[in-house]
Amino acid sequence: MSLLAPGVIPLPESMAPGEGHFPLKKETAIRFDPQLLGLAESFSKELEVASGFAPRIYNEMLRIHLPSQIRLDLDPGMEGKSGAYSLEVRAEGIILTGKDVQGAYYGTRTLLQLLPPKGGDPLQVAAVKIRDQPRFGWRGMHLDVGRHFFPVEDIKGFIDWMAYHKLNVFHWHLTEDQGWRLEIKKYPKLTEVGAFRESTPPYGNRDSDDGQRYGGFYTQEEVREIVAYAKERHVTVVPEIDMPGHMAAAIAAYPQFGNDDIPGYAPKVMTRWGVHPYTLAPTEETFRFVDDILTELCELFPSEYIHIGGDEAPKDQWEASPRVRELMKKEGLKNGHDVQSYFIKRVEKMLAAKGRKLIGWDEIREGGLAPSATVMSWRGEQGGIDSAREGHDVVMASNSHLYFDHYPLPAEQELAKGVEYECIGGYLPIEKVYAYDPVPVALTAEEAKHVLGVQGQLWTEYMKTWDKVEYLAFPRIAALAEIAWTPVARKDFADFSRRLGPMLERYDAAGVNRSAFVPPAKRETVGGVKVSTSLGFYQNHWPELAHDGREDSFFWADRELRVGDHFTLDFPQPRGGRIEVVTGGKASKNGDRLEQGVLEASTDGANWVKLADFESGKAGGALPEGTTRVRIQVTGAQTNWLIIEEIRFAE
Ligand code: ACM
Repeated sequence: MSLLAPGVIPLPESMAPGEGHFPLKKETAIRFDPQLLGLAESFSKELEVASGFAPRIYNEMLRIHLPSQIRLDLDPGMEGKSGAYSLEVRAEGIILTGKDVQGAYYGTRTLLQLLPPKGGDPLQVAAVKIRDQPRFGWRGMHLDVGRHFFPVEDIKGFIDWMAYHKLNVFHWHLTEDQGWRLEIKKYPKLTEVGAFRESTPPYGNRDSDDGQRYGGFYTQEEVREIVAYAKERHVTVVPEIDMPGHMAAAIAAYPQFGNDDIPGYAPKVMTRWGVHPYTLAPTEETFRFVDDILTELCELFPSEYIHIGGDEAPKDQWEASPRVRELMKKEGLKNGHDVQSYFIKRVEKMLAAKGRKLIGWDEIREGGLAPSATVMSWRGEQGGIDSAREGHDVVMASNSHLYFDHYPLPAEQELAKGVEYECIGGYLPIEKVYAYDPVPVALTAEEAKHVLGVQGQLWTEYMKTWDKVEYLAFPRIAALAEIAWTPVARKDFADFSRRLGPMLERYDAAGVNRSAFVPPAKRETVGGVKVSTSLGFYQNHWPELAHDGREDSFFWADRELRVGDHFTLDFPQPRGGRIEVVTGGKASKNGDRLEQGVLEASTDGANWVKLADFESGKAGGALPEGTTRVRIQVTGAQTNWLIIEEIRFAE
């Protein structure tokens, strides 16, 4: 691309530079297909923000001559998925063609990003030819407004930025133990009581109280306004009412729908974070309550999917409740997981009767998944893998790569700036988000069709202000957008980093309180050996550190090991000699050495010979002459993670 062409994020499917530039100037006008009137109007206003003047708009039926024009066209016969578009910038004009209205809209998002971030008069748009379509249909961002509440204007701004990144599902987490945020007309106490708590832990001390009453909620009118605002930007709002757990605020308002037959039952709107014991009771009265809420919810939100949560529902209260024990006997439910499954299946039927689909966090698998449910996999990928294999649709939202409530820079660096930089924990650098592929390697091509897409999560325990939400969302949202939209074969972190530069300028110009982008350290192995692995890495312990010639640095996997996990080295030239692998290290209190595994070598990349079994975390042997690859294969699952201290070679 020419130097004048700023980076586009997410990277389009194909992009070919042309000759020259199109000057966007006062005379430039928009000529639109009649079906794109709304887009022409809104895009003209957006161009005014970027350039200082609003292009006039002309229906293409008016066959007048326009000396400088941007055409907005539709071609339903265009190849590709919904959202596909083509965009051609030439010196003499711009032609944008959408497969559908959504596609035309995405083309305008790309065009906005082709404008130089710093402006200019005229604004020069470098010539280019783009064809583009989304990789996934579900490109989501989640926001928890239960732990902290954010005004309508902030939510709208967030939706604008989502759309700018071609994200299209706003998962609005509306209810929590610490606050119920949605007006429900039939149950006014949900907000009168449930929207307010008496205290909140301050930053820096999770086990204390600030003693300040805190709360807020969205009226139904505000919700309608937000849903309509999102729709104009091709964003679907998927509401979440989290049940049967995370319900303390609702139960504080209406204790009769909780397990109020337990001695000493005293629900309140929670003032501390974490998982709380209050669950809805699986009674007919409660199911009527839930059904009433879902009825109002479905009137407000036209989305195909309704998220019913399902996560982190402790079973203790059900086990202690005489009423639930009686139900278990009657329905043949053996344990708490069966009760959870019974509950979710009842809710699934309610939603089906309203013509909606149920989606929930992966705990909805407990006790057996409801037949038509879609699963949002957050506890790693396993829930998504298992569900896809069983034929259920899944959205990947793993806490290993997609939880934006984790530190964007190492915790020590963030906390050195002040307690208000506190995060829930973890460390999620932008390159780790970028490295994530929403299709788990374990799935076959057929199973992978069940992966609807991918979503970033913003849980707001440690986000008291909108500034902090922005700090954690930006710029990681850009990496999310690219893994959700761009063909996997086009992903390239170095190129993304370059394109991120202009994007950061745009965030800054718009006053977004983003976190710093620190390019990751160069990852080099001895002699340019290429490393690949099925494992993610913990903190900065990336895979290359297993073969960097140093004893003091090491690879550290970020999870338990499963049979079939591998760590593979590809040599630039065939070689022989000896290999020695040392796993485990003092950095982990568990040692994290490989308990059951084999070391294998291959001369053709496909057929493998075993060199040795791992014993006491070590393996070594002589490489067959002409070896091009070696791999460590996990042959037994282990709960410990894995440290590979060093892989050494000798002639
Ligand atoms: C979750 O993070 N509890 C879905």
